[in-house]
Amino acid sequence: MATDDVYQEFIIELYKNPLNFGKIDNADYRAEIYNATCGDMIEIYLKVQGGAVIEAKFMGKGCAISQASASLFMGYLKGKTLDDIRKIRKEEALALLKIDLSKNPTRMKCALLPLDALRKALKS
Ligand code: FES
Repeated sequence: MATDDVYQEFIIELYKNPLNFGKIDNADYRAEIYNATCGDMIEIYLKVQGGAVIEAKFMGKGCAISQASASLFMGYLKGKTLDDIRKIRKEEALALLKIDLSKNPTRMKCALLPLDALRKALKS
């Protein structure tokens, strides 16, 4: 897969108009994480009620892949229990993007930034 193949239209659209973007005041879980390769940052916020995620948002800056991944991943977290989100595997997070990044480790790191942020938030 050529590098440019990962920039599918829906990814560019999410980059321009991200979903679940913003800050949650009084979030129950929050973490920011940097991609050491490029210095880009994502900050995530979770609001939990009755053991389940009722709101999930992100802020930050990064490439199209990281922003699209965060948009989709925040939506994926909503409604899930804390137990469920603790068990999310990287394959699950990558599948949300519907593109094959297996031969593109740099872009895979971008795509996994939201999951890394989630793991950090759950430890906080
Ligand atoms: Fe920085 Fe993708 S290049 S997060």
